[in-house]
Amino acid sequence: NTLALDVFPTATIAPVSSFIFSGFLEHLGRCIYGGILPAGPTNFPYTPRNPCPKDQFVETPKELLTEEGFRKDVLEVLRDELETPMVRWPGGNYVSSYKWEDGIGPLEHRKKRPELAWGGEESNVFGTDEFIKWCRVAKIEPYIILNMGTGTLEEALHWIEYCNGTGDTYYANLRRKNTGKDEPHNVRYWGLGNEVWGEWQVGQQTASAYATKARQWAHAIRLIDPTVILIGCGETGLNHWDGVVLDALVDKVDLHSIHLYTGFGPRDRSQIEKEYGRSVYGPDAAEYSIEICKGQINKARVAKSVNKPIKIAFDEYGVWDETVGTPENGLEQFYTLADALAMASWLNVFVRQADIVEIACVAQSVNVISPLITSPNDLFRQTIYWPLWLFSKYMRGGTSVRVALSSPVFMGETLPTWISTVKGRPTELDASAVVHTSNSGKKSVRIAVVNRSERNSYETPVRVAFSNVVKEVEVHELWHPRIEARNGWGNENEVSVTTKRAPWKGKWTFRMNSLTLLVLDIEQ
Ligand code: AHR
Repeated sequence: NTLALDVFPTATIAPVSSFIFSGFLEHLGRCIYGGILPAGPTNFPYTPRNPCPKDQFVETPKELLTEEGFRKDVLEVLRDELETPMVRWPGGNYVSSYKWEDGIGPLEHRKKRPELAWGGEESNVFGTDEFIKWCRVAKIEPYIILNMGTGTLEEALHWIEYCNGTGDTYYANLRRKNTGKDEPHNVRYWGLGNEVWGEWQVGQQTASAYATKARQWAHAIRLIDPTVILIGCGETGLNHWDGVVLDALVDKVDLHSIHLYTGFGPRDRSQIEKEYGRSVYGPDAAEYSIEICKGQINKARVAKSVNKPIKIAFDEYGVWDETVGTPENGLEQFYTLADALAMASWLNVFVRQADIVEIACVAQSVNVISPLITSPNDLFRQTIYWPLWLFSKYMRGGTSVRVALSSPVFMGETLPTWISTVKGRPTELDASAVVHTSNSGKKSVRIAVVNRSERNSYETPVRVAFSNVVKEVEVHELWHPRIEARNGWGNENEVSVTTKRAPWKGKWTFRMNSLTLLVLDIEQ
């Protein structure tokens, strides 16, 4: 096979939306309680379904909290390291039986409720005002999902009035009373339900029933606040559901939400072949979904003469093995290097699809199938943290450009098999590239390459078309000799990124099982 990677800086796709580095907080396991707030009713390694015996409870020391009472360490990683621009809340499946009014007002009056999606009980200690306060401290744009399961349109309208109302009305005044401030929460992004298609969802509906209801909701919501950005509930982008919902809703929404997880990192060496392929090549399925979803969106736009571009909110993605991250352990999964390569491939997909993907929310931001794991007084960064950090730092602010790649293909089993049946075999090398201009006007090409081969390192000619690049390259590499390597308590930095500068000779050796990010300055 001839190996080659050609980058075409003049063949621009679109600016990379910084919202592809967004997160997701759900009332699930130790995401909110133990992640955003200090452990309260739950504690490491316990979850609401598996509560901590009182005599083993460890409190988070006060000095580890912000003055508002949030965990400083988690907040700082999300704000200062990952620069998370937006967070989706409060679910997820959780939202489909969430009564938002239970989570406002004096804490002593908040109603404790049975939690239907994940089991256990919800204290409602963290509600709308706490979420907004946390977003402000974390410099994060809030994105709220409406309850289209048990919730009514009236409740949804009240919630929006509570958040955004500026008049002399009941819910706007209630917010003023609860927060002690006049300024509205100003929540722009609202999601019309979560996975309403799923049989696990409280209030599951058919596509046409959902579409009729969502149209009514969208119409009324824009009457109460015409400035909101509305996100319709899709499935994975290529399903019948997506087509029906888009055909009916395309003129009423701004974005179409889709979800997909990849999983099965190698745990059992004898299964490595099968599991590795499923995990690491899984994001190729997401790209296929996005491409088909784009077609479904544009078909619906043409039919209804919708001028405005409708974008995709991939507002749940990530690496999740449902046999490992279960409701019993609060979906806590400990990730390998293979999972990190899957995460890097996910991000390559979002960069390549920059013209249609506006939002992508990693599921989830802390503890729950997450890049970050906390204890009462510490946290560590999982393997999947590093691709997110690298892409956020180097690909943000760039314009995605075309890449042509000639690479050996993967012949093993992938998930689902139709990716290779219909789309063709996935390539072992996977790449995306941006052109970036710094504040001082310096131009560079940034190329992210995942070598998904377990056996081969590839010395690859890397050509940047019609540009002179300087003779030195900045190289960031995520690599470890063992594909099963993980980070954990006591070995927090087993897998992390190394950075070096090297002479640039027009080619690079991408080691097997690695993510490499090359920064090549362009001569002015
Ligand atoms: O992120 C975990 C769950 O996955 C979410 O609650 C749900 O929306 C999805 O099925």
